[in-house]
Amino acid sequence: MALLHTRWLLAAPRLAATRASSWWSHVEMGPPDPILGVTEAFKRDTNSKKMNLGVGAYRDDNGKPFVLNCVRRAEAEIAAKKMDKEYLPIGGLADFTRASAALALGENSEVFKSGRYVTVQGISGTGSLRIGANFLQRFFKSSRDVYLPKPSWGNHTPIFRDAGMQLQAYRYYDPKTCSLDFSGAIDDISKIPEKSIILLHACAHNPTGVDPRQEQWKELAAVVKKRNLLVYFDMAYQGFASGDINRDAWAVRHFIEQGINVVLSQSYAKNMGLYGERAGAFTVVCSDAEEAKRVESQLKILIRPMYSNPPLNGARIASIILNTPDLRKEWLVEVKGMADRIISMRTQLVSNLKKEGSSHNWQHITDQIGMFCFTGLKPEQVERLIKEFSIYMTKDGRISVAGVTSGNVGYLAHAIHQTCGDFLLSRKPLKHIWSTRSSKVLDPCAAAFPACLFAALPA
Ligand SMILES: Cc1ncc(COP(=O)(O)O)c(C=O)c1O
Repeated sequence: MALLHTRWLLAAPRLAATRASSWWSHVEMGPPDPILGVTEAFKRDTNSKKMNLGVGAYRDDNGKPFVLNCVRRAEAEIAAKKMDKEYLPIGGLADFTRASAALALGENSEVFKSGRYVTVQGISGTGSLRIGANFLQRFFKSSRDVYLPKPSWGNHTPIFRDAGMQLQAYRYYDPKTCSLDFSGAIDDISKIPEKSIILLHACAHNPTGVDPRQEQWKELAAVVKKRNLLVYFDMAYQGFASGDINRDAWAVRHFIEQGINVVLSQSYAKNMGLYGERAGAFTVVCSDAEEAKRVESQLKILIRPMYSNPPLNGARIASIILNTPDLRKEWLVEVKGMADRIISMRTQLVSNLKKEGSSHNWQHITDQIGMFCFTGLKPEQVERLIKEFSIYMTKDGRISVAGVTSGNVGYLAHAIHQTCGDFLLSRKPLKHIWSTRSSKVLDPCAAAFPACLFAALPA
């Protein structure tokens, strides 16, 4: 025992020396995720009326997370059949990928029927986007440039950048009108160098909630075709925007009908409420089935060293729902129910603002679609909403309408009206809003809005 003790004492300085040196001393503390920052500040708040409008997950009218009944039924089926837990193939569950392609492209589409596409399972929308980004990095030889709408979902930039692509932007949102800057978009897109990549949100644009109308999509498709751009559709909200899966897939299908061979990412996080199950898909529309086979082989080569094969459970649930007529029918009703509740909250928010006495034009709230609404609130108004009313949102004035309920919509309208008064919200260009990066923000907003919120947005 004494010997052991002596040995330990002799070894101790060496251990201390080992501990003192580090491989990672140069690693700087990174900024927290902006959305999670909002949630953290919300959690610390003790106000019983507090609202978290930052997080992008659906809530029912009691403000509670919602599990779809069709999901519960699919889970019960999986449990009853005592299904195995074997590895999936590299490209995922075949019944799931086939059904995902049919959902996006349409079962009667020429592409789906002829098989000139390949769909692989991805880790929800994000992982599917990343497979796509890596595939483009490896095989899209004519350009590194990916053009994002301004603004776009904050994660698009790091996804493509980390895959080795370069980010560019095209005008999309007009802060003066809180709606689509259609002429700006057309103008910018028509100047994108030929054979570049353009990313389009298929529906329910995040963060603005602003989607082109069908006539506008037609014009966009014509310009994109003329410029010979590779279109990357991000479809994270099919069915969740309008409540109709076909209507929400209209743009994707229209582009393909125009002879544009798109690539596409899908997510089942929102439309099936499978957030943590990470079910998604990545599709490449090819010129023929033989090309699709070659592309598929390379996608597998790309996926294998990343995570070997995708997770089973979420894909199984989604596949059972999509492929069982009775469950699919129930899903379509439930997804419409979620979309309708959000649409109704938009209407109720506007009518409550009017009841409060606001004469400001809030039409953009009802014109926008999907989970998110770009309210047009300025950063200082957002700060007041947080500090005085415990209503949390990102500093760009984006609210998740899914967090609004019939119980709290009146409080939200009251707070917005109190905060904004009745003067017109100044429609400063977003660049200006984002350039408040260096302005001193007082707690608790400082915690809610770290600089990375701005860094994540394309300039
Ligand atoms: C535009 C967009 N794309 C992709 C995603 C991916 O989400 P997930 O990885 O949870 O499926 C989201 C989620 O917020 C999104 O808004």
